[in-house]
Amino acid sequence: MSSMIAIILSGIFFLLLSPTCSGSKILVVPVDGSHWINMEVILRELHSRGHEITVLRSSKSWFIPSNSPIFTSINVTMLQDESDLDYYNKMLLNVMERRRLPTFLRSFYQQHLITSMLSQGHEILSRASATMLDDPVFMKKMEDAKFDLMLTDPALTIGVILGSYLKLPMVFNVRWINNGEGHLTIAPSPVSYVPVSGSELVDQMDFLDRTKNMLHYIYSSVELHFFINPYYSDLFQRHFPPGTDLLSLELAADMWLMRTDFVFEFPRPTMPNVVYIGGFPCKKPLPLSDELEAFMQSSGEHGVVVMSLGTLVSALHREATEAIAAAFAQLPQKVVWRFMVKSRHPWGTTPYW
Ligand SMILES: *[C@@H]1O[C@H](CO)[C@@H](O)[C@H](O)[C@H]1NC(C)=O
Repeated sequence: MSSMIAIILSGIFFLLLSPTCSGSKILVVPVDGSHWINMEVILRELHSRGHEITVLRSSKSWFIPSNSPIFTSINVTMLQDESDLDYYNKMLLNVMERRRLPTFLRSFYQQHLITSMLSQGHEILSRASATMLDDPVFMKKMEDAKFDLMLTDPALTIGVILGSYLKLPMVFNVRWINNGEGHLTIAPSPVSYVPVSGSELVDQMDFLDRTKNMLHYIYSSVELHFFINPYYSDLFQRHFPPGTDLLSLELAADMWLMRTDFVFEFPRPTMPNVVYIGGFPCKKPLPLSDELEAFMQSSGEHGVVVMSLGTLVSALHREATEAIAAAFAQLPQKVVWRFMVKSRHPWGTTPYW
């Protein structure tokens, strides 16, 4: 009995010793796919420091789990409810088709394709945001939860809109936003020196290149103001002060964790609330499996090429695949290439190494 009391007392003693709870309640609206892979790294770290995390996800999410030891999740309507993973493969094949056009024109054609994709996406996102804000039960739940912070990836707009509506301090985990690279939104990027994303230009531009860059810049402003913003105007009129648009909400975010490193960037102005976090998911490497180690060593002094199409893209058309394979065949390096082929299994694509 006395030992029991001793245990209880020492328990209380340790409770008193430990610093007062300083965990925050963080609302997270992530973007699915590869964006989730890096957001999860941040969430693990926040969780290990005692913060309480709530993640909004689609019930049809591709990567974001419903049950997790590090966060609680709430199912809401998001982009995934109306678009599927294969969309990105189709998009890539479409873009590659257009690459047969002359250089000056093709990036505008590609841009046109991307505009139609963005339009569709923002139409879905604006409806999903309206569903959320027009649902008094859901919004009361969000308000009663008394979150301290919104952490979101502004590549998609739901988190920005919800966080602004709830008047939460907002932190962005960002690289892409609305229709371009984050830097183009937060600070002026001189078009004579900084190529607009998608223009396929580099920072050494002659007069024709600069003209092209300027056209891309104008195009992306037109795209934002005339093809993206209008989807949200009804929502903004009903729920936000007059004059609100996507940019005004985004520029009010408190901190931008930018997923790039300035050494890879073009010289251009940035802002004091931008923190460069490029490379943060890198961990200390683990030793390779024996089989892979032997493969690597067998390439000798030449080393190995790793070919990756990212997280969502798994298909190139046959002609491109064969051309790349033929080019690899001429290299002294060995190649590691995750190659997805349609299998006969009912569940579709399976990886082949
Ligand atoms: C949320 O969605 C998942 C499927 O992704 C489902 O298993 C789960 O039951 C849903 N949760 C609620 C509360 O509806």
